[in-house]
Amino acid sequence: MRTIDWSDDKNCIVFVDQTKLPLARHIVECGDVDALVEAIRSLSVRGAPALGAAGAFGIALAAQTSKAKSPMDLIQELEDAAEILRNTRPTAINLSWGVDSVLRKAKTGHSITHIRELALGEAKAIADEDVEICKKIGVNGAKLLEDGDVVLTHCNAGRMACVDWGTALGVVRSAIEGGKRIKVIATETRPLNQGSRITAWELLQDNIPVTLITDSMIGHVIKSGTVDKILVGADRIVEDAVFNKIGTYTLSVMAKEHKIPFYVAAPMSTFDFKKRASDVEIEERDPQELKYFGDEQIAPLGVKVYNPAFDATPMENVTAIITERGVFYPPLSFEELKELK
Ligand code: MRU
Repeated sequence: MRTIDWSDDKNCIVFVDQTKLPLARHIVECGDVDALVEAIRSLSVRGAPALGAAGAFGIALAAQTSKAKSPMDLIQELEDAAEILRNTRPTAINLSWGVDSVLRKAKTGHSITHIRELALGEAKAIADEDVEICKKIGVNGAKLLEDGDVVLTHCNAGRMACVDWGTALGVVRSAIEGGKRIKVIATETRPLNQGSRITAWELLQDNIPVTLITDSMIGHVIKSGTVDKILVGADRIVEDAVFNKIGTYTLSVMAKEHKIPFYVAAPMSTFDFKKRASDVEIEERDPQELKYFGDEQIAPLGVKVYNPAFDATPMENVTAIITERGVFYPPLSFEELKELK
C-alpha cells in the first residue's frame, strides 16, 4: 500500500500512521479535514512529498464532505480549509503546493459536483505523479552512486516520506535495482527519530543494508572515512539554501570538511522561486518533544527548550540537487529552473 492514498470505497483518505512505526503498521481512514490537520501536526503523515499529497487530498476531502449549497460557498469553504492546512507545517513547501494545486483546479468547476470531481481527480493525479517523479529522481541520482558506496542519510526521505519509493532513499533503491551494492548509514534523527523508527525499518523491509547511528556520532563516523556520500531530502529549496530536517546543516559542514559529496534529492515542487533563506519560516515544535520520549519524561519539566524542526544548509555546501528533471550543480540559475517546474 502507498503511504497515503484515496479510498474510493470509503470515500476518504487512507494513510499509514507513521507515529506507530516500527512497532505497528497502522492504517488510518481519515474522512474529516480536522483529523487530517491533526495527523499532519502530529507527524502521522510527514515528509515533504507525502505532505504534498496530504494537502491535495485534504482539499479534495473538504470538497467531498462539504454541505455547501452553492459553488461559491463551496469554494469559500475550500479556501478556509486551504488556509488551515497550509499553516499546519509552514516550512515544508510541498504541503501548500499540494493544497494550492487542487484549489486552483477546483476553482475552474461550474457546479458542486464538478468541483468535487475536479478536486479529487487533481489530488489523485498528484499522488500518482509523485510516484513517477520519485522513480525519475531515483534513476537520475543512481548515476552518482558507485558500486560499493556507503551513503549516509538523515531523517527519512524514503517511501514513507513520499507516496511511494522515496527521494533520497529512492536514489539508493534505484542504484541497487541497477546492480550496485549500496550500504546506508541512518542517523537516529532526534527528537522524533524518523531515522531510527522509519528509515531503518523501511530499509530492512527491502533488505537494504543499514547501520543506525545517533546524530552525535556523525563527526566521528565521517572522519573515520567510512562514508562515501551524504544523501538527504529537502522540505524547501530556495536560491541560497536547502531547508531540511534539523541536523542537515551540520552534516553539510562535515561533508565539506571531509570532502565528501553532499547530495540533495527532491522533486521540482520543493523549489520555492519566491523566497530567499532569510524569508523562510522555520517550524518550531512543541517543547514536550524534548522533555518526553513517548510517555517517559527524560528532562526536567521546568527546563527551557528550543525545538526547531528544520535548518538551512547554504547552497555553497551542496554538491548537487537531484530532481526528476535532472541533476543541478550550484550555483543554480533559478531563472532557468523556474522554466522547468
Ligand atoms: O518533520 P518531518 O519528518 O516531516 O521532516 C522530514 C524531512 O526533513 C525529510 O528529510 C524531508 O521532508 C524530505 S522527504 C523526501
